[in-house]
Amino acid sequence: KKRVGILTSGGDCPGLNATLRGVAKALYQRMGDQVEIIGIANGYHGLIHGDWRVMEPREFSGILTVGGTILGTRRTPFKLMRVVGEDQVDKVAAMKQHYQEMKLDCLLCLGGNGTHKTANLLAEEGLNIIGLPKTIDNDIYGTDVTFGFHSAVDIATEAIDRVHTTAGSHSRCMVVELMGNKAGWLTLYAGIAGGADIILIPELPYTIENVCAAIERRAAQGKTFSILAVAEGAMDACEARMKKKERAAKRAEAGYTTATNRIAKQIEELTGFETRVCVPGHMQRGGTPSPYDRVLATQFGSYAAKMVEDENYGITIAMKNNHVGENKLKDVAGKSRLVPESHGMLEVARRMGISMG
Ligand code: F6P
Repeated sequence: KKRVGILTSGGDCPGLNATLRGVAKALYQRMGDQVEIIGIANGYHGLIHGDWRVMEPREFSGILTVGGTILGTRRTPFKLMRVVGEDQVDKVAAMKQHYQEMKLDCLLCLGGNGTHKTANLLAEEGLNIIGLPKTIDNDIYGTDVTFGFHSAVDIATEAIDRVHTTAGSHSRCMVVELMGNKAGWLTLYAGIAGGADIILIPELPYTIENVCAAIERRAAQGKTFSILAVAEGAMDACEARMKKKERAAKRAEAGYTTATNRIAKQIEELTGFETRVCVPGHMQRGGTPSPYDRVLATQFGSYAAKMVEDENYGITIAMKNNHVGENKLKDVAGKSRLVPESHGMLEVARRMGISMG
């Protein structure tokens, strides 16, 4: 019997369960009772501490539409993997030991950039690893899309749609803060889908003068409200030149923790428009996956099952030009995918007259 370990690690997102189901159903379909799936609880934390169990096939039924992850997840920062903490646990040695104890033939790791770094470390340590790219941030190198992203775009778009009417009624500016970590994909897509007037992403530092000029141009056309889609990682041009710590210190000194609060205050001061901040936050990560993500999860999951059968390890699944394929883990680990300046979607935004700050 082939023993296949599986874990979900890092921040959750819609589509994790759909991917687990995709892997499991395709494995059972291809290998019948010649395969056993071992579920590891709470990501690498469970692998470090030996928290695992043999899954029943029925546990993968009925979860296609369910948000979150039936395995649980946790952030276990890569930088701590080689650090022996107060508990004196050598994490890498413990993960290898539990992999052996579970008698795994391979381990599937569903996660984002951090997860992929650890997955690669385990592959370098001689374990048979397959990664699956999950994140609402869409920032994994080598794949055009990650599962979770489009569900988050749907939720973020709905948030923008909803603030539109209240912004219009009150003649206000609404600043919608969207997730995405250091990448602007989610804000760019949701901003376009929601008809935002101004989109600010980390890759393109803004100036508040440009932002206010865009609001005033609209006002001159008789438009008494403006919608700003602002990535949580957005920075103004001065901040972009600072190191992360310096930037945080400067914001704290000025009494702001986030870019959006600062932007809202500045808009009020410079344009006179009453301004509010709206933060959909973790709603962007919750709930049922969109049909797009259900399909993607099933494509990725079933492809991973094929890779297990073929014993093709040391890889992560990817979408490249509408084809599902794979990349070597070592080529992906430690990298990320930001919105390139030449990206077609930025061009679309500019053609539509959307200000990018
Ligand atoms: O990586 C996904 C993500 O949702 C980012 O967009 C966000 O910056 C971060 O996770 C939030 O993390 P946490 O849930 O740990 O606060």
